[in-house]
Amino acid sequence: MNLNYQNLLIFTAGIIGTLLSSLLLDRWWRERTYDLNGKTVLMTGGSRGLGLVMARQLIEAGARLAICARDTTELERARTELEQRGGEVLVLPCNVTDQTQVEQMVQQVRDRFGAINILINNAGTDIVGPMETMTMEDYDDKPLEEFVFSGRWNQPSPLVKSH
Ligand SMILES: NC(=O)c1ccc[n+]([C@@H]2O[C@H](COP(=O)([O-])OP(=O)(O)OC[C@H]3O[C@@H](n4cnc5c(N)ncnc54)[C@H](OP(=O)(O)O)[C@@H]3O)[C@@H](O)[C@H]2O)c1
Repeated sequence: MNLNYQNLLIFTAGIIGTLLSSLLLDRWWRERTYDLNGKTVLMTGGSRGLGLVMARQLIEAGARLAICARDTTELERARTELEQRGGEVLVLPCNVTDQTQVEQMVQQVRDRFGAINILINNAGTDIVGPMETMTMEDYDDKPLEEFVFSGRWNQPSPLVKSH
């Protein structure tokens, strides 16, 4: 093996080593920064779908979790599953398009867990159907749209005051 080739190998190994170390350092830093252990997370729409998937991960990461949805049977099913996974879970029936219900829900979360550290505003609906049969009205879910996009979460005083 000539000297140039040996130097090239050492140089390449150095680069790979530096890259791997940076990746490990980055991962360690992210895990430190985003430590969810003991944090209180309020997630709307956590009873099924993507919300339930996130709920499982939040529980696994040690978060204290409050989820809401309208269907109480689905909420209870989610609670049973999440508690079986060892989670501390509060389930609350709530229609997030109703300001009064939202304020009551936030208050219940505060009563149980204290300050809310993270809000995941996940509740929503998807419209699925053949384009030929869809009407403009099918796209209208004004109350939910307004809720998700209006920043109304900044208004309910209980959430703001919880910090
Ligand atoms: N799945 C996708 O491919 C996709 C893509 C882009 C964006 N998203 C968005 O991601 C979010 C979750 O989607 P997903 O597919 O998991 O939907 P999903 O399976 O239909 O679940 C929606 C969740 O939100 C709750 N919810 C709906 N309306 C609510 C209301 N007015 N008040 C309180 N809770 C309400 C539902 O429970 P109840 O019905 O019992 O209230 C359920 O827990 C939605 O906002 C959706 O628009 C999804």
